[in-house]
Amino acid sequence: MKLGFASFVSAAVTVSAIAGAAAQCSDFTTYSQTPQGSPSSGPLALPYMRPSPECRTFNSTAVEKVITDMKARLKDPDLARLFENAFPNTLDTTVKYFNETENLAFIITGVPQWLRDTANQFAHYHTLLSEDKELATLVKAVINNEARYVSEYPYCGAFQPPPESGLAPSHNDWADGVTVNPPVNNQTVFECKYEIDSLCGFLKLSRSYYQSTKDASFMNTNWFTAIDQIFRVIREQSQSTFDEDYNFISYYNWTGGNGALSPAVPNHGNGEPKLYTGLVGTHHRPSDDLSTFAFLTPANAMLSVELTHLADVLDATKQAHNVSTLARQYSSTISEAIWDTTVVNNVFAYETNGFGGRYVMDDANVPSLLSLPYLGFLDKKHPAYVKTRKVLLSRNNPYYAAGKNFSGIGGPHVDAYHPWPMSQISAIYGTNDDGEILNSLYLIANNTAGLGLIHESVSIYDQTYTRPWFAWANSYFAEMLLDLAQRKPHLILKDGKPYVPGQ
Ligand SMILES: *[C@@H]1O[C@H](CO)[C@@H](O)[C@H](O)[C@H]1NC(C)=O
Ligand SMILES: *[C@@H]1O[C@H](CO)[C@@H](O)[C@H](O)[C@H]1NC(C)=O
Ligand SMILES: *[C@@H]1O[C@H](CO)[C@@H](O)[C@H](O)[C@H]1NC(C)=O
Ligand SMILES: *[C@@H]1O[C@H](CO)[C@@H](O)[C@H](O)[C@H]1NC(C)=O
Ligand SMILES: *[C@@H]1O[C@H](CO)[C@@H](O)[C@H](O)[C@H]1NC(C)=O
Ligand SMILES: *[C@@H]1O[C@H](CO)[C@@H](O)[C@H](O)[C@H]1NC(C)=O
Ligand SMILES: *[C@@H]1O[C@H](CO)[C@@H](O)[C@H](O)[C@H]1NC(C)=O
Repeated sequence: MKLGFASFVSAAVTVSAIAGAAAQCSDFTTYSQTPQGSPSSGPLALPYMRPSPECRTFNSTAVEKVITDMKARLKDPDLARLFENAFPNTLDTTVKYFNETENLAFIITGVPQWLRDTANQFAHYHTLLSEDKELATLVKAVINNEARYVSEYPYCGAFQPPPESGLAPSHNDWADGVTVNPPVNNQTVFECKYEIDSLCGFLKLSRSYYQSTKDASFMNTNWFTAIDQIFRVIREQSQSTFDEDYNFISYYNWTGGNGALSPAVPNHGNGEPKLYTGLVGTHHRPSDDLSTFAFLTPANAMLSVELTHLADVLDATKQAHNVSTLARQYSSTISEAIWDTTVVNNVFAYETNGFGGRYVMDDANVPSLLSLPYLGFLDKKHPAYVKTRKVLLSRNNPYYAAGKNFSGIGGPHVDAYHPWPMSQISAIYGTNDDGEILNSLYLIANNTAGLGLIHESVSIYDQTYTRPWFAWANSYFAEMLLDLAQRKPHLILKDGKPYVPGQ
């Protein structure tokens, strides 16, 4: 998730490699910076931004059906246009390689495949997998490709194309001069910052596939090895920095050099010292920024939730009872540690270190504290969420900022005055209040810089934004609109009746 990432590589990328007409299909980073097509009929007059059919990287009739259904139902033609652009964005632009026989697919964000982004880029299609077999086959191939990555390099988050694809590995300028232990092969690994939520992304994609299809065939040898490796990381990274004899414990370390965008990680690449609490430490945040303290509350919340889902899927398919038992144990240890060590006066800290250090803030993307209900960790009416949310959406959160046109939560990844639309999406998932929902919804819709796509961040001072092409943000927006179509149909749909895809 890098600012400017797409732009430094754009010259080398052809989005439509598998669509057969690469020569005429422009790179989507370029394409998405100019209004295309004819404008929507609402006051925002948003352009039609889908690439032409021959340039799309995957076609799904189920996805097209949802677009037709939603366009017919949505009251506001501008929201309909945003949905039409955003919902198919992952399939339109990011399927760089897919081979069903090999059971391999390579999904890009910028250049590499990120475990986190990929899971999120597909999150809004899960309910369609039972009716669209080809889409399900694609997701299964994504899981298998990731299982290979995770089984070999569980500490890494971004990867090169599978060798079978014939696609050349890309050079990552920002990995130059970085020393990472355990060492990695740059033909497989694009970047090896350790972020625990990347592994949660892999778990979420796997269990969502199963929940929708009831097909357990993705659980092959690669996949079980990957799961074992995830438990290795959990075990290693929940330990204190020092053992009882003051031996320094290090299983993984990362030191930035000249090319690295992120500053060097202190203490020889190990981060700030931590003391065992039951939480699992991380080195970098979901933004790829350096963690201040190792125990990132929202990532641990997601881990706790996903470990329970993992256990449920294993139990439902009568597989690996040892793993499911372990998953349930860790899930409750982590959840208890969140409640016992991160909450003071009903306010969650974003990060803690086990010594009493707490950083009260929130970062822009997901997992964040604002997204705890979306992650499935707690109910949006829980008093600790309600109180924390008030803090996060106020001056008490160092990364909240408000301007004349746009407001929300940002982070040091861009800067403190560029909040991310994604934070407003998380805010919508965290409330039942119609007024708050509509306000967040139109903060997003009004601030696409007239481009009809969801960007990474938007300035509170003017209409400047970062990342014209950000598939995850588009997917998250579409997922949220579908959630509102079920949960709050009177707010957005003409007939006020709930709409559920495939029903
Ligand atoms: C998607 O369909 C269009 C025709 O509508 C076709 O030109 C294109 O090649 C298809 N894309 C893929 C990846 O099959
Ligand atoms: C998929 O992979 C198989 C096995 O490597 C190969 O024979 C086949 O040609 C590939 N299919 C496509 C469409 O590339
Ligand atoms: C991999 O690392 C080697 C040695 O540092 C470097 O020469 C090469 O360009 C790198 N390859 C890629 C794809 O980054
Ligand atoms: C870095 O991690 C490796 C294990 O991957 C460990 O052997 C080494 O001691 C660590 N180095 C430092 C300086 O912490
Ligand atoms: C579960 O048991 C299998 C078979 O004995 C073993 O290979 C695997 O490593 C175990 N997994 C965990 C997480 O303990
Ligand atoms: C969005 O823009 C419309 C039209 O300019 C304006 O009336 C509305 O207040 C704006 N909404 C928000 C939440 O900024
Ligand atoms: C607010 O949005 C309007 C309409 O898009 C634009 O003309 C104006 O420059 C924006 N103002 C600020 C402070 O961003």
